[in-house]
Parts: sequence; structure tokens; C-alpha cells
Amino acid sequence: MLKTPMIVLNVKTYAEATGENALLLARLMEKLSNETGLSMAIAVQASDITFCAKEVSIPVYAQHIDPIKPGSNTGWTLPEAVKVAGAHGTLINHSEHRLNLADIDTCISRARDLELDTLVCTNNVATSKAVSTFYPLMIAIEPPELIGGDISVTTADPGIVRNTVKAVRTINNTVKILCGAGVKNGKDVKKAIELGADGVLLASGVVKAKDKEVVLRDLTSDI
Ligand code: G3P
Repeated sequence: MLKTPMIVLNVKTYAEATGENALLLARLMEKLSNETGLSMAIAVQASDITFCAKEVSIPVYAQHIDPIKPGSNTGWTLPEAVKVAGAHGTLINHSEHRLNLADIDTCISRARDLELDTLVCTNNVATSKAVSTFYPLMIAIEPPELIGGDISVTTADPGIVRNTVKAVRTINNTVKILCGAGVKNGKDVKKAIELGADGVLLASGVVKAKDKEVVLRDLTSDI
């Protein structure tokens, strides 16, 4: 059973969180999760999953899986492969790696069969509703234009979070709803919870920070 509120850090392909740096960040999150009791997960590059998953107790997620079965598929990411590598779950349909609805549905069922947590990114209320009918474990609403920016979705577009929660709850009562894009500090996380979200998905605010521990501590400070 997933414990919320939850903070999921997607380290993307930032140099600051590749290889050894991914592990340092995962260890830091593990430390803060243990200290605060707050649920945290880290989504690392496929090549860093085993490296991190072997070393930390927090869930390590893949950043992407493809809707494929074992066999003749070159350069794709097989759900079984991320499971064997030690992933506890996976992001699906990040704005930087979009899939069509049919493929999202397949990825969710393939991941579910493998007992991988599923966190599906969505870009608007309509997509959030559509994806919720596939019953992933979590969705994360992230307006693409705010990703990597300085203003949190909770400030720039609180309506999209509120309306997503409202719309999704009319069709799915169990999916956890995160929000992301521009989230940087504890105030943003607190606002996300006030808007009805179960947590946040973020990246640059932590990964690009000079002092990542200070930022991670601040994220947990108001909840
Ligand atoms: O997956 C998280 C994400 O796309 C948000 O990125 O840098 O705005 O926190 P960022």
C-alpha cells in the first residue's frame, strides 16, 4: 500500500544525477525519508537502476517503459528488464517521452502484471481523466510549458491541479494524484496538498540545486 503524501524525484538525464551522482541523490533521499517518515521515490536512468536499487531502501523507478514483450525490439525498454534490474516502479508517458493512449494502457497492464508501481504523467485534465480509466497506481499532472521553469504549477496554474483532482475523482477513487512542473520548495508542496494532490513529482529544483539536502529538507518542511 502506497503511503502518501509522496515526493517523487525524476532525475531525467541531468549530469548532476547520472551514475555515481544518481546514487548520491538516492542515498540522500533515503536518509531524509527515514528521518521524516515521508514517502520518497527516485526515478533514475535505466542504466542506473541496478546501481541505485541495490544500495537504497527507497523505491527506485524507471523513467520509461515501452509497450513491448521480450523479443525482437532493438533500443526499447522492456518492462521485465527494469523489474529484473531492481526497479520498484516506472514513470509512463512523461512529457519528454510521450506515448499514445493505447500504448499507455498496454504499459500499465504490463507493469501491473510485473508488480511494478505505475506513475503516469498527464498534460491536462482530459488526459488525466482518460488515463485514470486504466487504473494506474498514480498519475502526475504536469503542464509541459511549466516544466523546468521557475514558477510552480501550484502558483502558475492551481486550477489545473484542482480540476484534475475533481475530474479524476468522478471516475476513479483510488488512483493517487501528484502534480509537478516548477515545484521547488516546501510551500509548493504544501499548496499541492491543499489543492487535493497526494504529493509532487519534481526534477530541476532538486537536481540542479547547489545544496540538494537543503532543498530536499525544505520540501518536507511544511507537511
Ligand atoms: O518529471 C518531473 C518534471 O517534468 C518536472 O520537472 O524540473 O519542472 O521539476 P521540473
